[in-house]
This record gives sequence, C-alpha cells and structure tokens, in this order.
Amino acid sequence: MFVRTATASTAAAAVFGAGALLLPGSQTQATAPQAADRQAAPVVVAHRGASGYAPENTLAAVDAAARLGVDWVENDVQRTRDGVLVVLHDTGLKRTTNVEEVFPDRAPWAVKDFTAAELARLDAGSWFGERFAGTRVPTLAQFLHRLERNRQKLLLEIKSPQTYPGIERDILRVLRQAGWLDRSHVRDRLVIQSFGADSVKKVHTLRPDVTTGFLGTPPVADLPAYAAFTDQINPSYTTIGADYVAAVQRLKGPHGKRLQVHTWTVNDAANAAKVNAFGVDGIITNYPDVVRDATG
Ligand code: G3P
Ligand code: CA
Repeated sequence: MFVRTATASTAAAAVFGAGALLLPGSQTQATAPQAADRQAAPVVVAHRGASGYAPENTLAAVDAAARLGVDWVENDVQRTRDGVLVVLHDTGLKRTTNVEEVFPDRAPWAVKDFTAAELARLDAGSWFGERFAGTRVPTLAQFLHRLERNRQKLLLEIKSPQTYPGIERDILRVLRQAGWLDRSHVRDRLVIQSFGADSVKKVHTLRPDVTTGFLGTPPVADLPAYAAFTDQINPSYTTIGADYVAAVQRLKGPHGKRLQVHTWTVNDAANAAKVNAFGVDGIITNYPDVVRDATG
C-alpha cells in the first residue's frame, strides 16, 4: 500500500518552520496501483530523505520528509570495516562529512575502511548548513528506528553491493531484528532495490516475500527476465518515455502483480509533470513538496 499526503503549502511551512510532526494518521491512504488503474497521482519518495532541505541520508532528512507529510523515504546502505550497516550514498566519506579534518591520514577515506565508532565521530551535517552541525551518519538500525517513530516507509538501496560481499544477508538480519520483516512491514512499508541485478536476485531468493526493485533501464526485450525477481524497474527519468513505462507495466512481477516504475531523481515541477504524464507509479525526489504540487 502506498500513502499520499498533506497539502504542499502546509508541508512547506512545516519544513522551514518549527511545525509539529505530521503523522501518517492525518494522511490520505491510497492502494498500490494495479494494471491500468494507477492512482491519480504517483507515489512521492523522499530521496535520501528530503535531501533538498536537510543533509542527505541523515535522521534530519528523515524528519524533514515526515514534516512534509511524506511517508516513503529512500536511503543508501553500506557496511563499515567492523560489519555495521550505515546509511551513506558515496562509497567515500569526503563529500558529506568532515572526515579529512578528523582523520587526515586515512585517504582515500572509503566507508569500508572505517569502523562504526570512527564514523560516529564525524559531522555529516555542516557541509549542508551550519544549523545541521553535529548531525551524525546513522546506522541502518538507527534509521529504521526513526522511520518507525515517524510511521514512515523505506525504499532501501543496497549501494555498491560488489564492495560488500554478503551485505544482502546483513541487511535482512538488521531488518528482521528491527521488526521490519514482519507481515505488515513486508506488505506495506518496505522495498529493497539496487543497481546490482545479482544483489536484487539474492534478496528475492533469501526473502521471496519482500518487494524488490532494479535500478536502471533494461532493454524492453530483457524485461521479462527481470520480472522473475523484481517488482519494480526504477530508471533515471532522463532515460524513459511513455512507451517504456507501458512496456514495464505490461508485465507481471514475482508476486503476480504488474511491474511498477519509480523514476529518479526528479527535482522540478516541469519534469515531475512530464513523467507523471508517462504514467509512472512513483517519483523519487529531493523536493517531495515540489513534486507533489506538480502531480497531485
Ligand atoms: O533511488 C534512486 C536513486 O537513489 C539512485 O541513484 O545515485 O541517488 O543512489 P543514487
Ligand atoms: Ca540511492
């Protein structure tokens, strides 16, 4: 099930002000789209959290999405040297933390070379804005806990799976420990996606009940093979048109429902309207309020 939400004007005020948290109880419920009956508006997914308004992949970005009334949050999961799952986009730490200052002798500052305790010392907010100084890199467990508190949903990306052999099992273990593999989470609140087809296949094999997504734009002729293990084909918006979306949606996925298309990363109203007209099921964006205004 997908959830659509509060008015954009309320939401924008909440993001920039100190407004109270908007919980999904106050939102409009919509059912997951089936063949030929997509809901009037696509699902809006906050990319790395509402990362236009707060530092990406942090708890602040999760909360910014919640204040906008956005349920679905995308993130990127990697693994530390000592095996802890953390939420970071880049495989290096330079762009989004002060790692060069804290660990000057540890070039090239790859995520995989640092322990969780070392990552916990980093500032992952100042690069985005001084008011986010002291924001930390969250572990996946912390991220899940915050989503749960906010009653949000997760589009989890396995980032660079080739760098982290076995990360699929690790992710499933943390999800299970946090209660995210129970029936209600699996049915309504969790999708696992990756650019790595083998990684998506592995998740599907390990937990066939979990909804999966493949990131990319496979040729139309190859789509039936993808439909064996993925429920979503999630392409860059720059690579698709109405014909491609229809070709995906004509197929049924491993759970007997038609394949969905969730496209990324659409950050302006004109492109949001354009992909909405293509009939996409979801739009992944740094600015969920902008996309909701353009498509709602
Ligand atoms: O969820 C889609 C999108 O996140 C894929 O690209 O590089 O932002 O992880 P990237
Ligand atoms: Ca991502």
